[in-house]
Amino acid sequence: MTAELDAIAQKMVADGKGILAADESSGTIKKRFDAIGVESTEDNRRDYRELLFRSDAMAKYISGVILYDETIRQKAKDGTPLVSLIQQAGSIPGIKVDAGAKPQPFCPGETITEGLDGLGGRLKEYYDLGARFAKWRAVIDIDTTRHIPSYTSLRANAHALARYAALCQEAKIVPIVEPEVLMDGSHDIDTCYRVTEWALKTVFEELYYQRVRLEGMVLKPNMIVPGKKAATQASVAEVAEKTVRVLKACVPSAVPGIAFLSGGQSDEDATAHLDAMVKLGGLPWKLTYSYGRALQAAPQKAWSGKVENVGKAQAAFTHRAHMNSLAALGQWTAEDERKAA
Ligand code: 13P
Repeated sequence: MTAELDAIAQKMVADGKGILAADESSGTIKKRFDAIGVESTEDNRRDYRELLFRSDAMAKYISGVILYDETIRQKAKDGTPLVSLIQQAGSIPGIKVDAGAKPQPFCPGETITEGLDGLGGRLKEYYDLGARFAKWRAVIDIDTTRHIPSYTSLRANAHALARYAALCQEAKIVPIVEPEVLMDGSHDIDTCYRVTEWALKTVFEELYYQRVRLEGMVLKPNMIVPGKKAATQASVAEVAEKTVRVLKACVPSAVPGIAFLSGGQSDEDATAHLDAMVKLGGLPWKLTYSYGRALQAAPQKAWSGKVENVGKAQAAFTHRAHMNSLAALGQWTAEDERKAA
């Protein structure tokens, strides 16, 4: 069983490939569709995701896709299960299993991610539906004026992540462990560093206590960036240097790979940051992408819910995936963006 898990984890971070996070919950996908003037119906959600899964990007650049519960059960227009489309492209289906971040008692302004009850049974069902990896996201906000994050919330979220990861591995499913330190707010880059360091140290301590096999998991962290509203923004070189530094200090080399979230960075920033980190070299784990917005913003805009735009949307998705694939290899240049544009 451990060999099976390890092999999946390694495949998820294979050279030049990364993960498509397409697991937007009903609320989040509605927000994305609102932005492009598309009604969020079951059919529209299916059509949109089907176009992604049928694009050229899949076989070339996408090692795995994180799905939402609705999507893992959905069929394409011609009746093919969406899961089969992903598998036919040589990519691995995955599933978001957390039940969302809910207000945490006695921690005003903070959340705890729910979804552990009955998770073992749900994982069995998802395995039978084809999922070979899962995702659970813990949300860590920063608000230094209110002493956020608190020890209480950070510790509880790390513990839940570790409980989830152990349940996954028992079900032969590779856990993506995602402690996301948000880039909302006006904190500086060093505050992001400090909080991320604390979160990662705590998460790996809890993973150890829950006996999680590090070789059979993938970490999905934020990068070290200043808050969106911070007075001083950081250069690509500074983000890369600080992110690699905190990861080296906190992530054991037994972990096969680290697949970043994009977290609200611009498409090109998310690509440039990844590329700069890989170019630094000398890393004990693979670095790649597990982007939602930074892979999908462009195809969503190009599609805008119109069947005649499907080709354009697929081209936009394939382009972003290609740019990120180059970045994961440390071979991206800003010129590649212009050439394609
Ligand atoms: P973003 O890349 O849009 O942050 O989404 C990734 C994800 O899966 C967050 O849980």
